[in-house]
Amino acid sequence: MTTRRRCLTLGAAALAGGALAGCDERAEQDAAARLQRRLAPPGSVAGADRLRALVHAATLAPSSHNTQCWRFSLGADTIRIAADFSRRCPAVDPDDHHLFVSLGCATENLMQAALAHGLQAEPQVAADGGITVALAPTPPRRTAAYDAIAARQSTRAAFDGRPLAPALWQRLEDAAAAEGVTLQIVSDRAGLERVLDAVATGHRAQLSDAAFVDELVRWLRFDAAEAARSGDGLFAGCSGQPSLPPWLARRIVRRFLRADSEVARSTEQLRSSAGVVILASDAAGGPQRWVGVGRAFQRLALEATAAGLRLSLLNPPLEVARLRAPFASAFGLAPLRPDLIVRIGYGPRLPESLRRPLEAVIA
Ligand SMILES: Cc1cc2nc3c(=O)[nH]c(=O)nc-3n(C[C@H](O)[C@H](O)[C@H](O)COP(=O)(O)O)c2cc1C
Repeated sequence: MTTRRRCLTLGAAALAGGALAGCDERAEQDAAARLQRRLAPPGSVAGADRLRALVHAATLAPSSHNTQCWRFSLGADTIRIAADFSRRCPAVDPDDHHLFVSLGCATENLMQAALAHGLQAEPQVAADGGITVALAPTPPRRTAAYDAIAARQSTRAAFDGRPLAPALWQRLEDAAAAEGVTLQIVSDRAGLERVLDAVATGHRAQLSDAAFVDELVRWLRFDAAEAARSGDGLFAGCSGQPSLPPWLARRIVRRFLRADSEVARSTEQLRSSAGVVILASDAAGGPQRWVGVGRAFQRLALEATAAGLRLSLLNPPLEVARLRAPFASAFGLAPLRPDLIVRIGYGPRLPESLRRPLEAVIA
């Protein structure tokens, strides 16, 4: 697993039997995930079905540990997005930063889908991070970002090392621009090595923390059947890793969750990337601000996907509170809080992650 999100790098040779047994299952899981990404064609639905189509698009957003920590309530011309605190992750995300960033990602997808379906969406974010999206009729506009909603994924594979043209970096920066959110691009080799050092320190801190490991293991899905049953969590197959019978995997997983293998994985990921974008915001932060960070990140992710790029997050140095300020200083971002580390490049598509059914997230 490339840990959590990350998934098992469990001694592949020893587990080859499990991997082979998992092949068909994996293909089925991938087919199911692709089916889940079929959005209702704009113009094909009206009334409550149209609002459900918007929620469907919202649920394809990324969420930390794939917790899908959101609840939607439909009004006549509003959709409310609220945190589902039963899905919070107190070990990796004690202040719910990632949880509210995830809500921001979902909001951005919903807004792009609304436009494609002929609705102008105006989100109001309350101080507690609750979001009310007002919807008003507008001429339908199908954007490249809308078309990227289903294609976007967190791709934890190695990329091919190709650099990005300066104009493309600029395009990503423009897409993510938001008041109160600072972006820093690191694309020089020395800078990427410094990111890697910080990521390695983050992995070491996290994997020596029993609470972090226990929580991670709870969100891991070890084979396609387990992933399909829950429709959430981190499935090894999504990182190109072998499936294992869950009864066996749960017994042995802790032995294989080693900082060294995670660092090796991140080294390959970062050295093959074109660069990294760091998103940062006011250290005073809070839910409202973090929703804004999530929206900016999701616009970046959709723009990158539309441009044929792949991306994934590598946040360990930001998830260990004591490592955040040194990271900010090292990249000239102090006194801001660095929120997200996004690596970007050209790479392969991996199997898609699953989602829970709409009934599970609509109140
Ligand atoms: C706030 C936030 C933090 C995340 N942090 C990481 C991370 O550090 N490493 C990683 O591999 N994935 C990270 N992810 C990606 C999620 O694991 C991923 O979105 C989820 O598994 C669903 O998969 P998808 O993005 O391919 O749809 C993060 C996602 C969010 C929204």
